[in-house]
Amino acid sequence: MIHPVHDARSASRSAQARLDEATGLAMALDLVIAGTLIAPLRGRTPATLFGKGKVEEIGRLCEDVEADVAVIDDALTPVQQRNLEKAWQVKVLDRTGLILEIFARRARTREGRLQVELARLSYERSRLVRTWTHLERQRGGFGVMGGPGETQIETDRRLLAERIGKLKRDLLEVRRTRTLQRAARQRHPYPTVALVGYTNAGKSTLFNRLTASEVVTEDMLFATLDPTLRALKLPDGRPAILSDTVGFISDLPHELVESFRATLEEVREADVILHVRDIASDESEAQAQDVRAVLERLGVDLEERRVVEVWNKADLLDLETRQALAGDARRVHPPAQLVSAATGQGCEALLATVAGLVDDAPPVAAHVPPGDGAAIAWLYRHGRVTQRTSDAEGGVTLSVRLSAQALGQFEQMFPEAEVRV
Ligand code: GTP
Repeated sequence: MIHPVHDARSASRSAQARLDEATGLAMALDLVIAGTLIAPLRGRTPATLFGKGKVEEIGRLCEDVEADVAVIDDALTPVQQRNLEKAWQVKVLDRTGLILEIFARRARTREGRLQVELARLSYERSRLVRTWTHLERQRGGFGVMGGPGETQIETDRRLLAERIGKLKRDLLEVRRTRTLQRAARQRHPYPTVALVGYTNAGKSTLFNRLTASEVVTEDMLFATLDPTLRALKLPDGRPAILSDTVGFISDLPHELVESFRATLEEVREADVILHVRDIASDESEAQAQDVRAVLERLGVDLEERRVVEVWNKADLLDLETRQALAGDARRVHPPAQLVSAATGQGCEALLATVAGLVDDAPPVAAHVPPGDGAAIAWLYRHGRVTQRTSDAEGGVTLSVRLSAQALGQFEQMFPEAEVRV
């Protein structure tokens, strides 16, 4: 297990912690770690990533520990991967490959499996395209496989493209069902609460605790792959829907972000997002930054104050730290909630906070007369639109959650719109 260090990356996260994380990922794949190394890089050598001396050093390490696989905790180009495999005589896995492999093993639903396979094939295709240009130069681009004049690589590309096309169609079908389910939920306007968080922060444990149900939790990364929805009872007796989502991780491969976009959209549409953090981890702040970055990439406005930080694993803290953090938690807006999903401590208060936030935004139906694009745009900007229907005359009715203040403002600014609570 090799963790290359570049200046920019080591700035936000200590190299050792990154190496530990990557080691955890590899162990989740049942790889036995025979040796680890932090390898500082002076620059990126195009052919092998590492400089000549490092390539030899790692080669010796592989030989000493009799490694079968070398995991490089970084993205490798296809050429680098191949050259390193040749130099070391072992299989080389890069970070993207590692993460895709884990996601593939952990997918629980059909949609999850399709999503991962799509991400995996897209990754392979990008390798193939580059490999292909490379090979073509070597071989002059002639081959006899497939149709007339089709090279082996072309055949592979065609087969991959066909498979990707089929996967996309299957996914569309699965998503159509999901959209229907979502529409059914919207008819009963239950508030929705989404759990997000760095992998291993304790989302599944909290999910079980809050909904008092049994979903597999594992002391392994990525126990959660597909959003699981379950009913939640708020302290005032109102129902809400809680969804457990994928575990985030730093440098999530873009192939995965793309294929999980639909899943992650559920997060964006949630009334309240609970950002679960392992507050007992030394890496807590760096992990939180990674999660915030993913949320922003999804278009979640962190200033909107719908994101509540849940500082989990409080049971692992000593009394003094716990008290200090409880003070810090009150100074965050909205206040962070110090809890232990394992013991249940703080969970009632957490639910009360959620209930308070949901109260702020009851759904209203706003009918906007034809041609009033400004009013519609305003609602999208200041509220959360959950449904939109147009009537024959071109008027639009939006089901939207707005704070009381925003609602007052809207009524003043757009008196011609009709609002029903
Ligand atoms: P991914 O699915 O990988 O994203 O993980 P997750 O965020 O769903 O984490 P999960 O609930 O699977 O918990 C990860 C590990 O942390 C498990 O071993 C849990 O038992 C442990 N854990 C979760 N909450 C707490 C807590 O409050 N206290 C302690 N001590 N351990 C906890």
